[in-house]
Formats: sequence, structure tokens, C-alpha cells
Amino acid sequence: MRVLITGITGFAGSHLAELCLSKKDVELYGMIRWRSRMENIEHIQDRIRLLECDLRDASSTRDVIEEVRPGLIFHLAAQSFVPTSWKAPSESLQTNIIGQLNIFEAVRKLGIDCRIQIACSSEEYGMVYPDEVPIRESNPLRPLSPYGVSKVGQDMLGYQYFMSYGMKIVRTRGFNHTGPRRAPVFVCSDFARQIIDIEKGLKQPVMEVGNLDAKRDFTDVRDMVRAYWLSLEKGTPGSVYNICTGRSYSIREILAKLVEISGVRVDVRTDKGRLRPSDVPLLEGDNSAFRKDTGWEPVIPIEKTLADLLDFWRNCPYRV
Ligand code: GDD
Repeated sequence: MRVLITGITGFAGSHLAELCLSKKDVELYGMIRWRSRMENIEHIQDRIRLLECDLRDASSTRDVIEEVRPGLIFHLAAQSFVPTSWKAPSESLQTNIIGQLNIFEAVRKLGIDCRIQIACSSEEYGMVYPDEVPIRESNPLRPLSPYGVSKVGQDMLGYQYFMSYGMKIVRTRGFNHTGPRRAPVFVCSDFARQIIDIEKGLKQPVMEVGNLDAKRDFTDVRDMVRAYWLSLEKGTPGSVYNICTGRSYSIREILAKLVEISGVRVDVRTDKGRLRPSDVPLLEGDNSAFRKDTGWEPVIPIEKTLADLLDFWRNCPYRV
């Protein structure tokens, strides 16, 4: 079976690539851009066919889809950092919505019969009120960032292409996920890297932080990519699924856990540059629909995820 991953050089993409390579009969293809950083997949690169493509360019997207003729597509490529979406809203919408549209149009016009997973996001729920948790898929979408809006756009396009053309699209609304290789702009990885710099004496023992009151539902990336795979193996085309643990922690609690695992002593300082025009206060999901259809459950506890993330930065061969 030919499997194509967009965003294969990214954090989740690289973990999903490892999972795909552990399956029997998978021929793995990945889309890359000419300037993609390769370190996340260096160790498996010789087992993947990498094809150059910019998803914002319809013709290059079509060429790659035509060449690969995939049976499964995992669409992970995106502008995925919420703060960047305020600085570059147009670019974020273009990359996320038009990039996905180009995949759908290529598959449709080439008449390729494949299953497509699209990585939607809990950021789509945005403003969630305390009496709405755990959040179900039917909750209203009230995005609070251009990124959230872009993911609503991807989500709705997925629905519409399923309804209009019967394309076998499964929408996964991934809640926060973290673990080794997470880029250091995201909160757990940022904090873990600061702690390791403090451990190594490279930084004063002061943690720079943003909004510690927000609550998020974190899944280990290795559980998350297992969910992506199962969404196409066992999920129902046309469906939308929350992928989450059902338990949330405040960012303050996450910081405390990282500090406790490391054993460093730190002071905490709020860096105003890390605060957002509006921050989603609470994300805690209900994963029962996905569990029911696929049998998935998250198995890696948050403490192991955070310990592995600290180890990743402790032993990191490169610095981003
Ligand atoms: N990045 C960052 N850095 N966030 C901080 C910091 C900090 O120093 N301090 C506090 N936070 C808070 C943010 O304000 C936010 O409430 C929370 O930590 C998580 O921030 P991120 O790790 O940047 O992730 P996110 O929740 O904005 O978005 C992630 O999850 C989405 C799913 O809900 C990303 O992975 C998205 O791509 C994904 O769709």
C-alpha cells in the first residue's frame, strides 16, 4: 500500500513515518519543500521516497499525487503555531486551507480512490465554557485565532468534499500533543529546553513564560500518530473525531511537573511577548466517539512524555 504523508519532516510527521515503516506492506512517500529541515527523519530517510512539492502550488501538488497514486494520505503539513497566525494571518490561511484544497482537487480530478486523514485541531473550539467540558465534536466552533479559523476552514472543506464527491475523508481534531522532537516554540518543548539550559548552566535559573492559566489536554505524540493511522484503518469516512486524553492540566501544572522531573530550582518571569491577543482558556476533550469506532486509547502518561521531552533536549544533537 502506498502511503503519502504531507509534513513528513515535522514533529508529528516524523513519528507517523516511523509508525508507517513498522507496518507490513507500506511503501512510504513524503512531501518536502526544498528548504525543509531533515533532522527529524534523518534516521529513516533512506526508507522513504521524498518528493519535492509546495502545497500552495496546485500544479506541483497534482504532479506528486499523480506520481504516487497513494492509497492513504495523511495530511499533516500546516502552519501550526498559533502566535504566527496573528503575525502572518494571510499566509496561515493560504497554507492551511488552500494547501489542503490543492490536495483534494488533485485527488478528485485524477480520480484516485484513496482515504485521506486531515489534521484538524481543538483550536477550532476556541472559546469553550466550563459547562461544555469535556468537549464533544458537536460543540460550537468559536475560534479565537486566525490559526483556529484556518483549521475550521480545513475541517469544513473535509466535510464538504465528503458530502459533495463522496471522498473518503476522516477529520481528526487533535488536541495538544507533545514529546521528543517537538519544536521549541510550543509550550512544553520551550519550557523543557529552558530547563535543560538551566541544568547545563547555560542560562540563569529564570523561566520565561506566557499565560500559565490556560488549560490544555495533552496527548503523547506517539499515541497521537497511532490515532491518525487508526482513523484511516478503522474510522468512518465523513466522520470527525476528537483525539485527546479527556484530562486537562493548566500550563502552570505542566511547568511544575517539568521542574519536578528535572529537579532544578527556578524563578518564573512572565514575558509579555509570550502573551496572545486572545488565548483559548480551556481545552479538554471527549474522545469516546473515536474510542468506540477504533478501539484507540492513549497509553503514555504525561509524566513519561515530559521526561522523554527533557531527555530529548538533554541529548539533542542539534539546537533549533
Ligand atoms: N508557546 C508558548 N510559549 N505557549 C505558552 C507559553 C510559552 O512560553 N507560556 C504559556 N503558554 C500557553 C499558551 O498561551 C497556550 O495557552 C498554551 O500554553 C499552549 O500553547 P502552545 O504550546 O503554543 O500550543 P497551542 O495550544 O497554542 O496550539 C497547539 O495545540 C493545537 C491543538 O489544540 C499547536 O500544536 C497547534 O498546532 C494545535 O492545533
